Amino acid sequence: MTPHAADGALSNDGPNAEQIEYWNGDAGERWARYQDKLDSMLQPFSDAVLRIGAVKPGERILDVGCGCGATTFDIAIRAGAQGKTVGVDISAPMIARARNRAAALKSTAEFMLADASTHAFPPGTFDLLASRFGIMFFLEQVPAFTHLRQALTPGGRVAFVCWRPMKENPWISVPLFAALPHIPKQEPAVPGAPGPFAFDDPDRLRGVLTNAGYSAIEIEPFDANLVVGGGADPVGDALQQTLDIGPLARIFRELDETARTQSIDAVREALARHASAEGVVMDGAVWLVTARA
Ligand SMILES: C[S@@+](CC[C@H](N)C(=O)[O-])C[C@H]1O[C@@H](n2cnc3c(N)ncnc32)[C@H](O)[C@@H]1O
Repeated sequence: MTPHAADGALSNDGPNAEQIEYWNGDAGERWARYQDKLDSMLQPFSDAVLRIGAVKPGERILDVGCGCGATTFDIAIRAGAQGKTVGVDISAPMIARARNRAAALKSTAEFMLADASTHAFPPGTFDLLASRFGIMFFLEQVPAFTHLRQALTPGGRVAFVCWRPMKENPWISVPLFAALPHIPKQEPAVPGAPGPFAFDDPDRLRGVLTNAGYSAIEIEPFDANLVVGGGADPVGDALQQTLDIGPLARIFRELDETARTQSIDAVREALARHASAEGVVMDGAVWLVTARA
Protein backbone atom coordinates (compact mmCIF):
# COMPACT_ATOMS: atom_id res chain seq x y z
CA MET A 1 0.00 0.00 0.00
CA THR A 2 1.25 3.53 -0.76
CA PRO A 3 2.05 5.39 2.49
CA HIS A 4 -0.36 8.23 3.23
CA ALA A 5 0.57 11.48 4.96
CA ALA A 6 -1.91 10.82 7.78
CA ASP A 7 -0.76 7.27 8.51
CA GLY A 8 0.91 6.32 11.78
CA ALA A 9 3.42 3.59 12.46
CA LEU A 10 1.96 0.14 13.15
CA SER A 11 4.15 -1.76 15.58
CA ASN A 12 4.78 -5.47 15.03
CA ASP A 13 5.89 -5.92 18.62
CA GLY A 14 3.42 -3.60 20.43
CA PRO A 15 0.54 -4.91 22.56
CA ASN A 16 -1.81 -5.17 19.56
CA ALA A 17 0.59 -6.96 17.19
CA GLU A 18 -1.70 -9.99 16.94
CA GLN A 19 -4.72 -7.85 16.02
CA ILE A 20 -2.65 -5.84 13.53
CA GLU A 21 -1.64 -9.08 11.82
CA TYR A 22 -5.23 -10.39 11.90
CA TRP A 23 -6.92 -7.28 10.45
CA ASN A 24 -4.22 -6.84 7.78
CA GLY A 25 -4.52 -10.44 6.58
CA ASP A 26 -7.37 -12.38 5.15
CA ALA A 27 -9.87 -11.00 7.70
CA GLY A 28 -9.33 -7.36 6.65
CA GLU A 29 -9.60 -8.30 2.97
CA ARG A 30 -12.84 -10.19 3.59
CA TRP A 31 -14.35 -7.35 5.63
CA ALA A 32 -13.47 -4.94 2.83
CA ARG A 33 -15.09 -7.29 0.29
CA TYR A 34 -18.24 -7.64 2.42
CA GLN A 35 -18.40 -3.92 3.19
CA ASP A 36 -21.72 -3.27 1.40
CA LYS A 37 -23.49 -6.21 2.97
CA LEU A 38 -22.09 -5.69 6.47
CA ASP A 39 -22.95 -2.01 6.35
CA SER A 40 -26.60 -2.62 5.57
CA MET A 41 -26.75 -5.33 8.24
CA LEU A 42 -25.07 -3.12 10.86
CA GLN A 43 -26.76 0.20 9.93
CA PRO A 44 -29.05 0.13 13.03
CA PHE A 45 -25.91 0.30 15.16
CA SER A 46 -24.44 3.23 13.21
CA ASP A 47 -27.76 5.00 13.75
CA ALA A 48 -27.50 4.18 17.46
CA VAL A 49 -23.96 5.62 17.69
CA LEU A 50 -25.18 8.81 16.01
CA ARG A 51 -28.10 9.05 18.42
CA ILE A 52 -26.11 8.55 21.64
CA GLY A 53 -23.15 10.58 20.30
CA ALA A 54 -25.47 13.55 19.62
CA VAL A 55 -23.00 15.06 17.14
CA LYS A 56 -23.42 18.80 16.60
CA PRO A 57 -22.34 20.80 13.56
CA GLY A 58 -18.75 22.01 13.89
CA GLU A 59 -17.62 19.24 16.27
CA ARG A 60 -14.42 17.19 15.89
CA ILE A 61 -14.95 13.44 16.11
CA LEU A 62 -12.64 10.43 16.11
CA ASP A 63 -14.22 7.15 14.91
CA VAL A 64 -12.09 4.44 16.55
CA GLY A 65 -11.68 1.19 14.60
CA CYS A 66 -13.62 2.78 11.73
CA GLY A 67 -13.11 -0.13 9.31
CA CYS A 68 -14.42 0.76 5.84
CA GLY A 69 -15.90 3.99 7.18
CA ALA A 70 -19.70 3.58 7.19
CA THR A 71 -20.21 5.21 10.60
CA THR A 72 -17.51 7.81 9.89
CA PHE A 73 -19.40 8.99 6.79
CA ASP A 74 -22.68 9.30 8.72
CA ILE A 75 -20.93 11.26 11.49
CA ALA A 76 -19.17 13.55 8.98
CA ILE A 77 -22.55 14.56 7.54
CA ARG A 78 -23.74 15.55 11.04
CA ALA A 79 -20.51 17.43 11.86
CA GLY A 80 -20.92 19.43 8.63
CA ALA A 81 -18.41 21.50 6.70
CA GLN A 82 -17.16 23.30 9.84
CA GLY A 83 -16.59 20.04 11.69
CA LYS A 84 -13.84 17.45 11.35
CA THR A 85 -14.33 13.68 11.34
CA VAL A 86 -11.40 11.30 11.39
CA GLY A 87 -11.61 7.51 11.14
CA VAL A 88 -8.66 5.55 12.53
CA ASP A 89 -8.01 1.86 11.96
CA ILE A 90 -5.14 -0.65 11.97
CA SER A 91 -6.36 -2.45 8.83
CA ALA A 92 -4.71 -1.27 5.60
CA PRO A 93 -7.27 -2.97 3.30
CA MET A 94 -10.19 -1.47 5.22
CA ILE A 95 -8.66 2.02 5.36
CA ALA A 96 -7.95 1.79 1.62
CA ARG A 97 -11.61 0.92 1.04
CA ALA A 98 -12.71 3.81 3.30
CA ARG A 99 -10.53 6.30 1.39
CA ASN A 100 -11.88 5.15 -1.97
CA ARG A 101 -15.43 5.48 -0.70
CA ALA A 102 -14.71 8.95 0.75
CA ALA A 103 -13.56 10.11 -2.69
CA ALA A 104 -16.59 8.55 -4.41
CA LEU A 105 -19.02 10.00 -1.83
CA LYS A 106 -17.25 13.39 -1.75
CA SER A 107 -17.22 13.01 2.04
CA THR A 108 -15.24 15.35 4.27
CA ALA A 109 -14.27 12.36 6.46
CA GLU A 110 -10.54 11.70 6.73
CA PHE A 111 -8.95 8.34 7.39
CA MET A 112 -5.71 7.29 9.04
CA LEU A 113 -3.98 3.95 9.36
CA ALA A 114 -2.80 3.78 12.98
CA ASP A 115 -3.22 1.96 16.27
CA ALA A 116 -5.74 4.14 18.12
CA SER A 117 -4.47 2.90 21.48
CA THR A 118 -0.94 4.25 20.98
CA HIS A 119 -1.04 6.84 18.19
CA ALA A 120 0.14 10.28 19.38
CA PHE A 121 -3.04 12.30 18.76
CA PRO A 122 -2.43 15.92 19.77
CA PRO A 123 -3.99 16.30 23.27
CA GLY A 124 -7.49 17.79 23.43
CA THR A 125 -8.17 17.35 19.70
CA PHE A 126 -11.62 15.74 19.70
CA ASP A 127 -15.05 16.55 21.17
CA LEU A 128 -16.25 12.96 20.73
CA LEU A 129 -14.77 9.48 20.50
CA ALA A 130 -17.26 7.31 18.61
CA SER A 131 -17.14 3.68 17.56
CA ARG A 132 -19.23 0.91 16.06
CA PHE A 133 -17.57 -2.29 17.28
CA GLY A 134 -14.01 -0.90 16.90
CA ILE A 135 -12.93 -0.65 20.54
CA MET A 136 -13.04 -4.31 21.64
CA PHE A 137 -9.67 -5.39 20.30
CA PHE A 138 -7.16 -3.66 22.61
CA LEU A 139 -4.96 -6.09 24.54
CA GLU A 140 -4.37 -3.50 27.29
CA GLN A 141 -7.79 -1.95 27.71
CA VAL A 142 -7.25 0.54 30.56
CA PRO A 143 -4.04 2.02 29.05
CA ALA A 144 -5.77 2.19 25.64
CA PHE A 145 -8.82 4.07 26.95
CA THR A 146 -6.59 6.31 29.12
CA HIS A 147 -4.54 7.16 26.04
CA LEU A 148 -7.69 7.90 24.01
CA ARG A 149 -9.11 10.10 26.80
CA GLN A 150 -6.12 12.43 26.39
CA ALA A 151 -7.14 13.01 22.77
CA LEU A 152 -10.48 14.40 24.01
CA THR A 153 -11.20 17.98 25.05
CA PRO A 154 -11.85 18.34 28.82
CA GLY A 155 -15.38 17.01 29.35
CA GLY A 156 -15.35 15.51 25.84
CA ARG A 157 -17.73 12.61 25.13
CA VAL A 158 -17.51 8.94 24.33
CA ALA A 159 -20.25 7.04 22.45
CA PHE A 160 -19.86 3.49 21.23
CA VAL A 161 -21.61 0.17 20.67
CA CYS A 162 -20.19 -3.23 21.60
CA TRP A 163 -21.75 -6.70 21.60
CA ARG A 164 -23.61 -8.15 24.57
CA PRO A 165 -22.87 -11.84 25.40
CA MET A 166 -22.87 -14.36 22.58
CA LYS A 167 -25.91 -16.20 23.97
CA GLU A 168 -27.96 -13.00 23.45
CA ASN A 169 -26.71 -12.75 19.85
CA PRO A 170 -28.32 -15.56 17.82
CA TRP A 171 -26.86 -14.20 14.56
CA ILE A 172 -23.52 -15.49 15.83
CA SER A 173 -24.50 -18.24 18.34
CA VAL A 174 -26.97 -20.09 16.06
CA PRO A 175 -24.39 -21.05 13.39
CA LEU A 176 -21.67 -21.63 15.99
CA PHE A 177 -23.77 -23.92 18.19
CA ALA A 178 -25.01 -25.84 15.12
CA ALA A 179 -21.41 -26.51 14.06
CA LEU A 180 -20.14 -27.47 17.55
CA PRO A 181 -20.77 -31.27 17.28
CA HIS A 182 -18.68 -31.37 14.08
CA ILE A 183 -15.69 -29.18 14.97
CA PRO A 184 -12.79 -29.63 17.42
CA LYS A 185 -13.60 -28.75 21.05
CA GLN A 186 -13.36 -24.98 21.47
CA GLU A 187 -11.61 -23.53 24.53
CA PRO A 188 -13.94 -21.19 26.45
CA ALA A 189 -13.11 -17.54 25.69
CA VAL A 190 -11.03 -15.76 28.34
CA PRO A 191 -13.32 -13.06 29.82
CA GLY A 192 -12.33 -9.65 28.48
CA ALA A 193 -9.84 -11.01 25.90
CA PRO A 194 -9.62 -8.93 22.68
CA GLY A 195 -12.43 -9.93 20.32
CA PRO A 196 -16.09 -9.24 19.59
CA PHE A 197 -17.19 -10.10 23.14
CA ALA A 198 -14.42 -8.33 25.09
CA PHE A 199 -16.96 -5.97 26.68
CA ASP A 200 -19.95 -8.26 26.97
CA ASP A 201 -19.90 -7.93 30.78
CA PRO A 202 -21.15 -4.42 31.61
CA ASP A 203 -19.60 -4.41 35.10
CA ARG A 204 -16.19 -5.22 33.67
CA LEU A 205 -16.65 -2.57 30.97
CA ARG A 206 -17.66 0.04 33.55
CA GLY A 207 -14.52 -0.89 35.55
CA VAL A 208 -12.28 -0.41 32.49
CA LEU A 209 -13.76 3.03 31.72
CA THR A 210 -13.66 4.11 35.38
CA ASN A 211 -10.03 3.03 35.76
CA ALA A 212 -9.21 4.87 32.53
CA GLY A 213 -10.52 8.09 34.13
CA TYR A 214 -13.96 8.48 32.50
CA SER A 215 -17.07 9.61 34.37
CA ALA A 216 -20.85 9.76 33.77
CA ILE A 217 -20.67 6.21 32.37
CA GLU A 218 -24.00 4.93 31.01
CA ILE A 219 -24.41 1.40 29.64
CA GLU A 220 -27.82 0.56 28.15
CA PRO A 221 -29.01 -2.52 26.23
CA PHE A 222 -30.24 -2.16 22.64
CA ASP A 223 -31.48 -4.79 20.19
CA ALA A 224 -31.96 -4.74 16.44
CA ASN A 225 -33.05 -7.23 13.79
CA LEU A 226 -30.11 -8.16 11.59
CA VAL A 227 -30.67 -9.32 8.02
CA VAL A 228 -27.91 -11.93 7.84
CA GLY A 229 -29.00 -13.34 4.48
CA GLY A 230 -31.01 -11.83 1.64
CA GLY A 231 -31.43 -11.85 -2.13
CA ALA A 232 -32.66 -14.80 -4.18
CA ASP A 233 -31.15 -17.42 -1.81
CA PRO A 234 -31.19 -15.89 1.70
CA VAL A 235 -30.05 -19.09 3.45
CA GLY A 236 -27.17 -19.59 0.99
CA ASP A 237 -26.26 -15.93 1.39
CA ALA A 238 -26.24 -16.18 5.21
CA LEU A 239 -24.23 -19.41 5.02
CA GLN A 240 -21.61 -17.84 2.75
CA GLN A 241 -21.21 -14.89 5.12
CA THR A 242 -20.84 -17.27 8.08
CA LEU A 243 -18.13 -19.19 6.20
CA ASP A 244 -16.26 -16.02 5.24
CA ILE A 245 -16.54 -13.74 8.29
CA GLY A 246 -16.63 -14.17 12.04
CA PRO A 247 -15.52 -16.85 14.49
CA LEU A 248 -16.61 -19.87 12.43
CA ALA A 249 -14.68 -18.70 9.35
CA ARG A 250 -11.37 -19.29 11.13
CA ILE A 251 -12.42 -22.72 12.43
CA PHE A 252 -13.87 -23.89 9.09
CA ARG A 253 -10.64 -23.27 7.25
CA GLU A 254 -8.85 -25.83 9.44
CA LEU A 255 -11.44 -28.65 9.13
CA ASP A 256 -10.98 -31.78 7.05
CA GLU A 257 -13.40 -32.40 4.17
CA THR A 258 -15.84 -34.62 6.16
CA ALA A 259 -16.11 -32.33 9.18
CA ARG A 260 -16.46 -29.35 6.87
CA THR A 261 -19.34 -30.88 4.93
CA GLN A 262 -21.10 -32.03 8.11
CA SER A 263 -20.76 -28.66 9.82
CA ILE A 264 -21.84 -26.73 6.71
CA ASP A 265 -24.99 -28.90 6.47
CA ALA A 266 -25.74 -28.35 10.16
CA VAL A 267 -25.22 -24.58 9.90
CA ARG A 268 -27.37 -24.35 6.75
CA GLU A 269 -30.20 -26.19 8.50
CA ALA A 270 -29.96 -23.94 11.58
CA LEU A 271 -29.96 -20.76 9.48
CA ALA A 272 -32.96 -22.00 7.45
CA ARG A 273 -35.03 -22.03 10.66
CA HIS A 274 -34.67 -18.23 10.75
CA ALA A 275 -35.66 -17.60 7.13
CA SER A 276 -38.72 -15.46 6.44
CA ALA A 277 -40.03 -13.24 3.66
CA GLU A 278 -37.53 -10.60 4.85
CA GLY A 279 -34.56 -12.99 4.53
CA VAL A 280 -32.58 -14.72 7.28
CA VAL A 281 -33.21 -12.35 10.15
CA MET A 282 -31.83 -12.70 13.68
CA ASP A 283 -31.49 -10.54 16.74
CA GLY A 284 -28.33 -8.52 17.43
CA ALA A 285 -27.83 -7.40 21.02
CA VAL A 286 -25.44 -4.60 22.00
CA TRP A 287 -24.54 -2.23 24.78
CA LEU A 288 -24.93 1.46 24.04
CA VAL A 289 -22.14 3.13 25.97
CA THR A 290 -21.64 6.80 26.75
CA ALA A 291 -19.14 8.50 29.07
CA ARG A 292 -17.27 11.77 29.63
CA ALA A 293 -13.54 12.46 29.72
C1 LIG B 1 -15.49 -5.41 13.93
S1 LIG B 1 -14.57 -4.32 12.96
C2 LIG B 1 -15.63 -2.90 12.93
C3 LIG B 1 -15.32 -1.96 11.80
C4 LIG B 1 -16.28 -0.78 11.63
N1 LIG B 1 -16.30 0.08 12.79
C5 LIG B 1 -17.66 -1.27 11.30
O1 LIG B 1 -18.56 -1.22 12.17
O2 LIG B 1 -17.88 -1.70 10.16
C6 LIG B 1 -13.33 -3.83 14.12
C7 LIG B 1 -12.35 -2.84 13.56
O3 LIG B 1 -11.48 -2.39 14.62
C8 LIG B 1 -10.19 -2.21 14.07
N2 LIG B 1 -9.22 -2.19 15.16
C9 LIG B 1 -8.88 -3.20 16.00
N3 LIG B 1 -7.94 -2.80 16.88
C10 LIG B 1 -7.66 -1.50 16.58
C11 LIG B 1 -6.77 -0.54 17.13
N4 LIG B 1 -5.94 -0.82 18.15
N5 LIG B 1 -6.74 0.71 16.57
C12 LIG B 1 -7.55 1.02 15.52
N6 LIG B 1 -8.40 0.14 14.96
C13 LIG B 1 -8.48 -1.10 15.48
C14 LIG B 1 -10.07 -3.40 13.10
O4 LIG B 1 -9.04 -3.23 12.17
C15 LIG B 1 -11.45 -3.42 12.48
O5 LIG B 1 -11.52 -2.61 11.34
